[in-house]
Amino acid sequence: MGLKISEEEFRRIMESGKRVDGRAWDELRPIKIRIGVTERAEGSALFEMGKTRVLCVVRGPMECIPSHIADPERAILDVAYRMATFSTEERKSPTPSRREIELSKIIREALEPALFLEEYPRMMIKVYCLVLQADAGTRTASINAASLALAHAGIPMRDLVTSVAVGYCYGKIVVDLCSVEDELCADVPIAMMPSYRKITLLQADHRLPIDRLPEILEIGTKAIDKIYQLQKRALREMYATTTREITGGE
Ligand code: CDP
Repeated sequence: MGLKISEEEFRRIMESGKRVDGRAWDELRPIKIRIGVTERAEGSALFEMGKTRVLCVVRGPMECIPSHIADPERAILDVAYRMATFSTEERKSPTPSRREIELSKIIREALEPALFLEEYPRMMIKVYCLVLQADAGTRTASINAASLALAHAGIPMRDLVTSVAVGYCYGKIVVDLCSVEDELCADVPIAMMPSYRKITLLQADHRLPIDRLPEILEIGTKAIDKIYQLQKRALREMYATTTREITGGE
């Protein structure tokens, strides 16, 4: 992925009090959610933030395969994050990269606290996140899609998990980074169980002043609350449609 503007130009725009794509500092990219996109799996969801688009499919709880990795105390949450070969400007190799393997682990760790894995000993829940189009924030979109797909699969959860990336650039804090911001700002992806205010993911990919962290978290939490409302609305609408289908609209 290449920068569309120079670093100097980016800095000039930021210092003039604007964002490169014209959004307000705390404004999210447009979000679209679709729940139930395949009938071949228990749960599925499509989550779009701007041009980033992720499909997540959930299977299970099911028998653990291979059986020798089964945990007698709890279910195994098996997360695979992958980028489609056509998701990036330059063709992505189909071989899972180190980044994809690391992100699979990070997404799993962000989701696990919301699940009652101890209720399903020796079982497996599979979560497959496929990035169809990448334009920054694919891990956050994957977490948002995955928690919806888990809910759609009927897997009991303490709460949804909701995620957004907050950026720190030239003293400014921006919400839901676009690709240029992702390249030039310190990126702080956050995931949370919003009802409990419990953080399940917090990363920082560049140095940033530690005294700005409370502000970053506060701004991130407000953005997460907005996404959480959209996730809940999408689930409610999906259940309302299902009910209409069952009752024939009565
Ligand atoms: O996607 P996310 O921001 O969670 O992770 P990242 O590693 O910070 O990647 C930032 C962006 O770089 C991605 O969203 C993609 O748009 C782009 N990227 C790419 O084009 N090709 C890759 N192999 C990896 C990332």
